[in-house]
Amino acid sequence: MSEVVSYQLKDNIGVITVNNPPVNALAQVVREGILNAINTAQDDASEAIVLRCAGRTFIAGADITEFGKPPKEPALPDVLSVLENSSKLVVAAIHGTALGGGFETTLACHYRCAIASAKVGLPEVKLGILPGAGGTQRVPRIAGVKAALDMITSGNPVAASKAKDMGLVDELVSGDDLEAAAISYAKELVASGAPLKRIRDIAIDPATIEPGFFESSRKQVARRARGQIAPDRIVSAIQAAVELPFDDGLKKERELFLELVSSSESAAMRHIFFAERQAAKIKDLPKDTPTRAIKKVAIIGGGTMGGGIAMCFANVDIPVVMVEVNDEALQRGLSIINKNYGITVKKGKMSEERMQTRLELISGTTDYADIADVDLVIEAVFENLDLKKEIFSKLDATCKQGAILATNTSYQDVNAIADATSRPQDVVGMHFFSPANVMKLLEVVRGDKTADDVLATAMKTGKQIGKICALSRVCYGFIGNRMLSGYGREAQGLLLDGCTPAQVDSALENFGMAMGPLAMGDLAGLDVGYKARQSRTDLPDDPRLYRMGTVLVEMDRLGQKTGAGYYKYDPETRARMSDPEVEALIKKEAEALGVEQRDISDEEILQRCFYPLINEGALILEEGIAQRPSDIDVVYVYGYAFPAAKGGPMFYADQIGLKNVYDKICEFRDRYGEDYWKPAPLLKELAEKGSSFAEWAEQQ
Ligand code: 3HC
Ligand code: NAI
Repeated sequence: MSEVVSYQLKDNIGVITVNNPPVNALAQVVREGILNAINTAQDDASEAIVLRCAGRTFIAGADITEFGKPPKEPALPDVLSVLENSSKLVVAAIHGTALGGGFETTLACHYRCAIASAKVGLPEVKLGILPGAGGTQRVPRIAGVKAALDMITSGNPVAASKAKDMGLVDELVSGDDLEAAAISYAKELVASGAPLKRIRDIAIDPATIEPGFFESSRKQVARRARGQIAPDRIVSAIQAAVELPFDDGLKKERELFLELVSSSESAAMRHIFFAERQAAKIKDLPKDTPTRAIKKVAIIGGGTMGGGIAMCFANVDIPVVMVEVNDEALQRGLSIINKNYGITVKKGKMSEERMQTRLELISGTTDYADIADVDLVIEAVFENLDLKKEIFSKLDATCKQGAILATNTSYQDVNAIADATSRPQDVVGMHFFSPANVMKLLEVVRGDKTADDVLATAMKTGKQIGKICALSRVCYGFIGNRMLSGYGREAQGLLLDGCTPAQVDSALENFGMAMGPLAMGDLAGLDVGYKARQSRTDLPDDPRLYRMGTVLVEMDRLGQKTGAGYYKYDPETRARMSDPEVEALIKKEAEALGVEQRDISDEEILQRCFYPLINEGALILEEGIAQRPSDIDVVYVYGYAFPAAKGGPMFYADQIGLKNVYDKICEFRDRYGEDYWKPAPLLKELAEKGSSFAEWAEQQ
């Protein structure tokens, strides 16, 4: 028997234990071990078999690191076929998360028991693939076609009690000893003469499926996951479960799985899976760096960001005190939080009781003395350096020693803010994204003097409140906003050159961005960028630069809030509509500025908008602002809705080939000038060597 899979007879039950830390992934040794154990159990004295896992979780899926490498025997579907055809009853005992191939393994067992805290799920779609070991064939047979489709196309896990209601799990067991509970469940089943329930034998009556169900599902998933192929193939696989005999359905599923696993979409999504986990690691900080306990938090400023940040902490049961300038501002801030939770309750996503518990965790004050005892302060007042410095010197005078003082600033110098205190080692940036209670990204900004334990605590706290953290050094706009500036500039420049707003946005939306940059400008308010530009002294004196954004603001077309910006908006539905007035205005402006308009391809739109991101990303890497190219990808996927299926801007650049990117940037430089298009030295170097960002990262 292999070391990672053991087999023991306990009380006449053959117990197979998988022990492959950290998450019991189904590496080759695990597949082989399970196969051998099942075969052994066929001929020994066991009455039945229990399949369980040691450690923190049941099998969390196939070993993702094996994808893209030559397959190694035995294949999981073959192992599961032996499992399902076992002559002795097999019970899966689930704790933690039974995901992907792990959950599929349980579906090949005859019965499934789980503890209440367990979850089951088929998250393959999040890796650009589909369940490739029978999940698409077995789940519709026990949970129904619609539920299977929802579960597999969303990839979201299902809690044990719901899984039981759906028929995915047979029995919920309690007590601390899952192994003992599973053994007694197996004995009960044997004693009662329970049959070997093989899901494969359940037939789905095609007449129960509404006509047109699969066509409409296909359209629905295409709308939701723009440009991705995996959701579409999942519909096909489930359709096969309905229309074909089980073995043919399995064959179809395998065929689709193999197509997806070798797709660029899946390579990109697997890259993001590992990038996200890498980003949490700080290169020069040992894993065992001590952290400070965060039991109470203060938020300074209860505006757009402060309110959302307060909710993040209340959501994980950490008390928060919100500090505002006066009672009116405080009440306004608290009432927005109230309203936001109210919406979640109305949508049925939270109970009234849970909302009350969370609201009780959030208190307010206008007196800094009330936050003397907090462990972490996050400042989220107006974006003004002098104001922030003033607040930090007040915090220095008020807060207990050892408290972490964080700023949510988007652009200001964290070192200058830290130097306004007598304890710069306790100051760090914690840059949330709007809406802060929803967006997954947290940029943790390391000041020159930030202490190691402060940094480690900021990363750990971010994870605790459900964020994906990426580390940035101090620079204007940190990683994300610094890179964004060229993206917005080019989106506007493309208008003068001949595009309509709809053309620019659709090209980017078809690529997979959640929203094009011009529609996004309308949503955020065009005055925001306008005001930010007014305070910048580093911009070239060029009337073409940000021309349309400026003209629209000066016409009081501020975006959705005034019903018109780059688009006009239906006052009732807020649907965006092209506005011929804007299109005429763009032509007029181009003419006045002497810009000759031309037809522009979608390919050029992508290049003009994305290549500045990539170029700035290269600068950020060589300056050491980001630790790795994959951290930049994480920032863009989780903070700016860059499609995971494209892997983030740096991965995307590697796919295009850095030489192609570099040559195009040089072409744009020759056309538009060095003020805007100046190839980063690192990009040039890698392009000339025929190398990639990924290869560069490996050598660091
Ligand atoms: N394969 C290989 N490594 C994996 C893995 C997997 N399936 N799942 C997790 N890991 C690694 C992580 O990369 C991480 O490694 P590191 O410590 O070196 O960074 C380590 O295990 C711990 O993972 P997390 O940090 O994510 O641990 P958490 O406790 O936060 O989360 C989890 C645990 C919920 C299980 C989470 O790891 C997860 O969601 N894993 C992926 C699950 C998944 O996608 N399964 C489907 C795989 S595809 C499949 O099964 C195909 C099949 O249909 C044939
Ligand atoms: P906001 O204008 O919505 O809220 C700021 C709040 O701070 C106001 O309610 C104001 O009354 C309060 N305030 C001002 N001075 C104060 C003081 N001395 N003490 C206590 N409260 C005070 O601003 P918003 O959008 O929430 O931004 C806050 C910070 O977060 C800024 O630094 C901004 O750059 C940053 N940020 C903003 C994002 C956004 O999308 N809005 C995204 C990420 C960061």
